[in-house]
Amino acid sequence: MPGTCVIGLQWGDEAKGKIVDRLTREHDFVVRYQGGANAGHTVVVGDQVYKLSLLPSGILTPGVTCVIASGVVMNPARVIEELDELAKRGAGHADNLRLSDRAHVIFPWHFAEDRALDKNTSDGENIGTTGRGIGPCYRDKVGRSHAIRLGDMYRATFRSQVEHIVEAKNRVLAVQYQAGEFTPLDASAIFREYSAYAERLRPYVCDTTELLLSAVESGKRLLFEGAQGALLDVDHGTYPFVTSSNSSGVGIAAGAGVPPRCIDRCIGVVKAYSTRVGGGPFPTEQDNETGQYLRDRGNEYGTVTRRPRRCGWLDIVALRYTSRLSGVDTLAVMLLDVLSGLDEIKICTAYEIDGKQTTRFPSHVDDLRRAKPVYESVPGWREEITGCRKHDDLPNPARAYLARVSKLLGRPIGLVSVGPERDQTIVVN
Ligand code: IMP
Repeated sequence: MPGTCVIGLQWGDEAKGKIVDRLTREHDFVVRYQGGANAGHTVVVGDQVYKLSLLPSGILTPGVTCVIASGVVMNPARVIEELDELAKRGAGHADNLRLSDRAHVIFPWHFAEDRALDKNTSDGENIGTTGRGIGPCYRDKVGRSHAIRLGDMYRATFRSQVEHIVEAKNRVLAVQYQAGEFTPLDASAIFREYSAYAERLRPYVCDTTELLLSAVESGKRLLFEGAQGALLDVDHGTYPFVTSSNSSGVGIAAGAGVPPRCIDRCIGVVKAYSTRVGGGPFPTEQDNETGQYLRDRGNEYGTVTRRPRRCGWLDIVALRYTSRLSGVDTLAVMLLDVLSGLDEIKICTAYEIDGKQTTRFPSHVDDLRRAKPVYESVPGWREEITGCRKHDDLPNPARAYLARVSKLLGRPIGLVSVGPERDQTIVVN
C-alpha cells in the first residue's frame, strides 16, 4: 500500500508546496488532511506563481485526484475563489477535485470568535493566529453541538442548524466584544450565502473516506500533503502556541481516514534555517541583523497574512524531535540559497536549561522559553548557489553544512532546493 507523506518539520512555511508539486507526478491522489486556509503553498511553474491555501498543490497537475479530506476545516468561499482564480488563468484541473462531506465548515461566527479570543493565552502571550477561524471551527467540531459539516449543507435541516447556532453565537459574541464593536449575525443572510456556496461546490462533494479506502485497497499511490509544521501540532507542538490540528505526521490517518500502515514513506521538509510566525518561544531566534538578512533574502513574510516572519538558526534539538515524531525517512532541505553570503553559520545542537545541557525537546513551553541554544559554528560561503543543479556544483562549505545536518539528524538528505523554480532543485544520491 504505497503512501508518501510530506511533512514540515519546523513551524510551517518550509516550502512544502514545491516538494509536493514535484512528487505529485508519481502519485494518483494528493490529499490535504488537516488545517484550512491558514496554510499557504506557493508553486512556481515557469513564470507563473500560484498561491493556494486550501486547494492541494496537485490541482496544477493533470490526471491526479486532489482530495480535501474530513480533517480539514473548509472555508467554502475560499475554495471557490481559488477555483475561479485558476480558471481565470486557464490553469488547474478542477474536475479532479473531491471535497469531503465530513469536513467541517468555517462560518462567519468562527472569524468573529478568532478575532475576539485571540488576545492572549492564560500566561499573557498572544498566539497570533492567522485569523482564518481555524481554532474556533475545530473547537466546535469537538464540541459537536454547534458544528456544521459540508454534507449538512445539502439537507433540509441546514436552515434550522444555522438559525440554532446563530442564536447561541450572537449571545456569546455580544459578551466577548465591547458594546458597538460587534454587529449581530443574520441567520437568513448566512443561510442564503452558504446555500449558494453549497450549490457551487456540489459537483466536488463526496464521501472521501470511502474514496480513499477504495484507492488504498486497489493499490493507488497516495501523497499526503501536510500543512503548517510539526512544531505547530496541537498535541505534540509548542502548545499553546500551535495550530488546532495534528500538523505532524501523526495526524494523517485520522485526518484522511486511512489506516496508518498505508503510509510507507515520509519526507521531512526543513528550511535551511528556522522561521516562525505568530507568538511562542523560538530558542534560536535572531532578532538582529542576521535575522533581518535571512528575512530579506528569504522573503520571509507570511503567504496568508504578510506578517514578517521571525528568523533564526537551524535547531537540531527541535528537528530531531519532529523527525522522530513523524517517522521521517528522508529530508528535503529548502532555501539553502538564502544562506549564501554569511561568514559563519550556526547550528543549535543542544539546549541549556537551568544550567543543564539537554538534547531533549521540552514538553512544556515554559522550559522551552528558558532554553538557551548551544551552538556549533560552521563556515559559510560567499557564492550565490541558485544556479547549482548538482550536489558537486555546491561550494564545499555548503556541502559540509548539509552533511553535518544530515549526520546530526541521522537521516539522509534526498533533495536540496536552491530557489523557487521547479528546476532549482538538486537531487542528492
Ligand atoms: P491558526 O492556525 O490561524 O489558529 O494560528 C495558530 C498559530 O499557527 C499562529 O502562530 C500562526 O501564525 C501559525 N500558523 C498557522 N498556519 C500557519 C502556516 O501555514 N504557516 C506558518 N504558521 C502558521
